[in-house]
Amino acid sequence: MVIEPIIKGVVARSAHPYGCRAAVKQQIDYVKQAASIKNGPKRVLILGASSGFGLASRIALTFGGSQADTIGVSFERGPSDKGVGSAGWYNNIFFKQEAEKEGRIAINIVGDAFAKETREQVIEAIETYFEGEVDLVIYSLATGIRPDHNTGNKWVSSIKPIGDSVTGATVLLEDDSWLESTIEPATDIEIESTIKVMGGSDWESWIDTLINNESLADGCKTVAFSYIGSEANYPIYRDGTLGWAKVDLHQASHSLNLKMAYFNGSAHVSVCKALVTKASVFIPTLTPYLIALYKAMKDNGTHEGCIEQMQRLFATKLYGQEIIPVDAERLIRIDDLEMDANIQAQVKIMMASMTADNFKSIGDYQAVKKEFMQTNGFELEGVDYTQDISMEELQALAKQTTKAK
Ligand code: NAI
Repeated sequence: MVIEPIIKGVVARSAHPYGCRAAVKQQIDYVKQAASIKNGPKRVLILGASSGFGLASRIALTFGGSQADTIGVSFERGPSDKGVGSAGWYNNIFFKQEAEKEGRIAINIVGDAFAKETREQVIEAIETYFEGEVDLVIYSLATGIRPDHNTGNKWVSSIKPIGDSVTGATVLLEDDSWLESTIEPATDIEIESTIKVMGGSDWESWIDTLINNESLADGCKTVAFSYIGSEANYPIYRDGTLGWAKVDLHQASHSLNLKMAYFNGSAHVSVCKALVTKASVFIPTLTPYLIALYKAMKDNGTHEGCIEQMQRLFATKLYGQEIIPVDAERLIRIDDLEMDANIQAQVKIMMASMTADNFKSIGDYQAVKKEFMQTNGFELEGVDYTQDISMEELQALAKQTTKAK
């Protein structure tokens, strides 16, 4: 079969395996020539390792100077009679192949990070491959649902404003259409559920599990990712349900930091740049901001993707420094280039005049769309998209992934 892109709304329903391989290799090539990570961790657990910031962290730490071995947890679909599977599933496989070529250990655990079985599998993998301890835990899950083990129900997140409604546009990547909508404010239950799903409590419970199993090495660090943004997107992000969940995550970093001190380690949140990922295109009204931001940062020569962000985070903030540089709220700011006043001024001007008629020319919609396609393995140079790929050849790759029972 020839694998074609299938997009529904803002969700990719297909992925190109060999495009994903090319994307992983591109990121590896980047970190190999970038400023190197010094005194980095050797045994790393990444929760949410298959795409976006989690995958970029994994690549940076393995190939960007630290030569880390990694255990990556993700929730992805392999090939089946329902389809070819998800991009993250192929990213896992091809990352592992490349890491093993260089003698690194790369364990992929595909399962629900909220499930007890997945945690047990991670602990077992730490025992088996890492002599029982990790040096760094990266928390990079992005999801809309978290099971509540006490009640058997699920918390479902809602990406909504709080207090007032927000009117704005979303671009449907499926057919490049501009869709104006008004999002009503979240209810108290929606706010609370979003905090449960995207706040800090699951990160804390993961660290507790690792502490209880004596899996944290001396000097172990942990980091999770956040976003703050600017006036241009405060109503839907910082001042909305996601922003409140991120405040909860920031607070969790402070209590975790006290726990990590017992191990001479630390817990931090890194505030990252807005980027096109599987998760971010889901945020209503954020796409016009991304379109303007990509244009402004590319014109100014300061644009970074997930891989540039993560390499810079580990090389210049989290490792190789006497003291981790943080702001007044103890947050690492790797969103500094996005927050530059000149960039934000340009974004503001573009957004003020962006409409359904001009959004493709006023900012850089082409770059946003291309990045979305590339996160699903399409539109990468050097990949033969006309090649015939058999299901058997894809299923043979499945042997390389450990499945949580
Ligand atoms: P992503 O969608 O690219 O990656 C999410 C990862 O979580 C994937 O590996 C996925 O398999 C995994 N995952 C989701 N549910 C899971 C589950 N139940 N069990 C196991 N694994 C699961 O997302 P992205 O954008 O890289 O987000 C990661 C973090 O970075 C999030 O906290 C997000 O808020 C934050 N962030 C994202 C920004 C952006 O613009 N994309 C900006 C700043 C922060």
